[in-house]
Order: sequence, then structure tokens, then C-alpha cells
Amino acid sequence: MKWNVDKYKHNADYVPILGQDLLNLLSPKPKEKILDIGCGNGELTKKISQFNCSVYAIDNSPQMVKAAKNNGINAQVLDAQKMNFNNKFNAVFSNAALHWMKNPNAVISNVYQALKTNGRFCAEFGAKNNIKTIVDAIYAQLQNLNLNGDNYNPWYFPDETEYRLKLEKNGFKVVEISVFERPTTLPTNLVGWLDTFATPFMQDIPTEKKSSFMQAIENTLASKLRNKNNNWVADYVRCRFLAKKV
Ligand code: BEZ
Repeated sequence: MKWNVDKYKHNADYVPILGQDLLNLLSPKPKEKILDIGCGNGELTKKISQFNCSVYAIDNSPQMVKAAKNNGINAQVLDAQKMNFNNKFNAVFSNAALHWMKNPNAVISNVYQALKTNGRFCAEFGAKNNIKTIVDAIYAQLQNLNLNGDNYNPWYFPDETEYRLKLEKNGFKVVEISVFERPTTLPTNLVGWLDTFATPFMQDIPTEKKSSFMQAIENTLASKLRNKNNNWVADYVRCRFLAKKV
């Protein structure tokens, strides 16, 4: 997926802000070596480094890594499903990124290998039924064009049990894991959100038809996802966990 850094900042500035809570669970200590997976523009990575630890960041998007570097972050273009760090980090952190990686076992086993013994894996990402109202509406509009959403869906949203089992099968001890609803007020309308995050669904839609495709989705969801103040509220569901390499 090709990210547009400016669009992301405009349409998704809440992502690092809401992720700050997760830092309490990570609880970084001075001098620790921490890996941030899917660092985006590095806003949250910067917050981790303020704990006087050494943070290394990766993201699969060259555009985002460039933005993170401009933010003073030591970052590299790398897919966590393919990374090959060995016994290097005290903790691995990830906010709102793991759901973009459709091979969770590769991610978890690579994280396990990257951690030192007793190292922590702390993350939050989309869980089962995350943004279900939006996903269903995207699928319905694709269906109108005789396209099957499953062929385009870039997201992995597991339930708690499934993810716990994957962590355990890969050798982690799960310290805590929870799934919770987090209705999220968007800074823009739904078209802005779709244009930032849902472009993989539009690969086979001609450029000149993409706007009306997104507008049709927005129209069908106005009665469901707009609140009294006319703000758009997306039905986010999060999985948050802390696991330990034992
Ligand atoms: C999420 O953070 O859950 C998310 C954001 C954009 C697209 C899909 C999921």
C-alpha cells in the first residue's frame, strides 16, 4: 500500500494520540533497546525515545520512513513479516500496524527472535469486527460492481483467543490481552478516511470512478456513523496485549 504522508497527517492524526495509552503498558525504561514496528511518521516513536531508551523503527512504506527520519527517528524500510533481527531488543512495540500484516505467524516468530530473553512484545491493533460497518459497506459497493471484497481486503482482524494462541504457539507467555470497542471520532468525513486507508479495495476501480465509489459508501453510512454533532465516528475494536519471551 502506498501511503501519502500529508493525507495521513490530515485524516489520521488521532492514531498516535490514541496510541499513547499503550506506552503505559510498554513502560519503557532508560537505556532499553526498543523496536517500533509500523512506525508511520514516527510521532509515537518519538514519545518512546523520550524515556531515554534507544528506539529503532521500521515501516514497510518508504514514504512513512522518510517522514519518520524527518522526525529524527532512526528508521528503516522493512516488513516485519520478513525482518531477521536476532536477540537484539528489550521490547518490541507496535501501534495500529499489525492488522496490515496478513501473515501473523511470521510477525510473531520474527518478533520472538528479535527479542532478548524476558523481552516484551506490546501492541495494539484492529480486532475481530473492527470497523465492521465500514468494511460491510465497502464490500456491498464492490458487489454492485461485481467485485469480491475478499480479493482486496488488506486487513487481518483476529479475535482474542486466536491471537493469544498464536502468541503462545510461538513461545510467548501472554501477560495480558484484551479486546475492546473504541468508537473513534474522525477528524474528517468518511471519504477522507477511505481515501487514506481503504485504497487497496479500489485497485480495480477506474481512477475517475473512485470518488463516486467512496461517496456512495459515505452516503450509505451517514445514518449509522454520524453523531449528533455531525462528526463521523468509526466503530474501531482494538486488541491490546503484553507478552513476554520466556
Ligand atoms: C485500525 O487502526 O484499526 C485501522 C485503521 C485503518 C484501516 C484499518 C484499520
